[in-house]
Amino acid sequence: EVIDAKGLHVLPGLIDTHVHSRDPGPTYKEDFYYSSQAAAAGGITTILEMPNTTPPVSDVESFDNQVANLSGKAHVDFGLWGICVGDLNKKDIAPLHERGVIGFKFFWGYAVHAKTFQLMYNYKPGMEDVIPPFDDGEVYSMMKEVSKTGNLFAVHAENNHLIQAFTREVEARQGTSYDDLIQSRPELVEVTTVQSGIAMAKDLGTRLHILHVSSAGGVDAVKEAQEAGYPITVETCPHYLFLSDKDYDHVGPQMKVYPPVKYEKDQKRLWERVKDGTISHVCSDHAPHTEEEKDGELWSIPAGMCGVESLAPLLLTAVHDNRLLITDIARLLAEEPAKLHGIYPQKGSLQVGTDADFTLVDLQKSGTLKREELHSKSKVTAYDGFPLHGVPVRTIVRGKTVMKDGAIEGEAGYGQLVTPASSRKEAALS
Ligand code: DOR
Ligand code: ZN
Ligand code: ZN
Repeated sequence: EVIDAKGLHVLPGLIDTHVHSRDPGPTYKEDFYYSSQAAAAGGITTILEMPNTTPPVSDVESFDNQVANLSGKAHVDFGLWGICVGDLNKKDIAPLHERGVIGFKFFWGYAVHAKTFQLMYNYKPGMEDVIPPFDDGEVYSMMKEVSKTGNLFAVHAENNHLIQAFTREVEARQGTSYDDLIQSRPELVEVTTVQSGIAMAKDLGTRLHILHVSSAGGVDAVKEAQEAGYPITVETCPHYLFLSDKDYDHVGPQMKVYPPVKYEKDQKRLWERVKDGTISHVCSDHAPHTEEEKDGELWSIPAGMCGVESLAPLLLTAVHDNRLLITDIARLLAEEPAKLHGIYPQKGSLQVGTDADFTLVDLQKSGTLKREELHSKSKVTAYDGFPLHGVPVRTIVRGKTVMKDGAIEGEAGYGQLVTPASSRKEAALS
């Protein structure tokens, strides 16, 4: 097939490293058939799927089951995260690494054990009292186990003990505003966890990755560790770059997410750290809930929103607005995430050939993000009505067009598993 790319920019196939497709689990919110179409529609050729499914990806058996489960529904390629749940799966870390996980996730911010995953989706402040969080000794030994494999140890960095304390304070004064939500999980909740993680990682030589950083203090702690030469990385998400507390009045509860979107000073610092390279990449934290679930008192509703389809259009709009260069898009959404997760150059590089991944974008094309046009099962977005300048117009996975001019062209089942080993194999052949 000859593709006329006149007037378009040709990018490597874009990657979203942080997607919760709820599959298997509460698939009434989302499933991989839907999320992988949303990815294709948004110019994403590879999804890295989070492991907090029900059951979670915690051992080789659940890994294999997940590959089988997602393969039949996949419109784009995918890699799998593995979960760390302390002693419950310590013995499974090395085998999971061998099987090909692209990283290990530890939910430092949640008191989550394998059998309590179901509860997590109905998470409410106070639940931490029922399920005790891991203590630092348990975190250290999890990190040690992952360090032995050389794989990435990625943390949701929010300190449960502090969350409990701050939540009690806010409850005592019966706060219900967005500021109360931030105050129940202030910058300190993130910073103390990032700092503990860094201290442990320095001791163990761990490749520590801080997920979805939301605060100036959090990202600056990572910058300091990087400057001291440690292999510590950090990502952020569009909601921390394009929203701040000021947006709550017009966006409403849809923008509730953990960690919460913070203040303008944080937003400003995160942009600086995207530009100076401290932040390796931007990913969506696609975490759908139903509209009914998201419609309610700020305290009672679940955290998370859709994002896999809006990730690239939002960042392309930042190119239009002269906040980023088009080369930054290739860096932030392809090269760096692929390198971090060991799937470069199979993914994330601009390859010549008819079996490569490409995302074609039209920077001249303007539009508006419309919630009803999203391909996800849930339409919960913080960006309904957001003006877009620059959109992906074609998504090509291993030479096959899976999206053209907004329409899904591919078939469920085309997408394949990608692992660090498959990437090494391809590199050796070429
Ligand atoms: O807001 C969030 N939602 N943050 C997380 O870390 C988990 C996610 C989810 O799975 O709903
Ligand atoms: Zn998280
Ligand atoms: Zn997440």
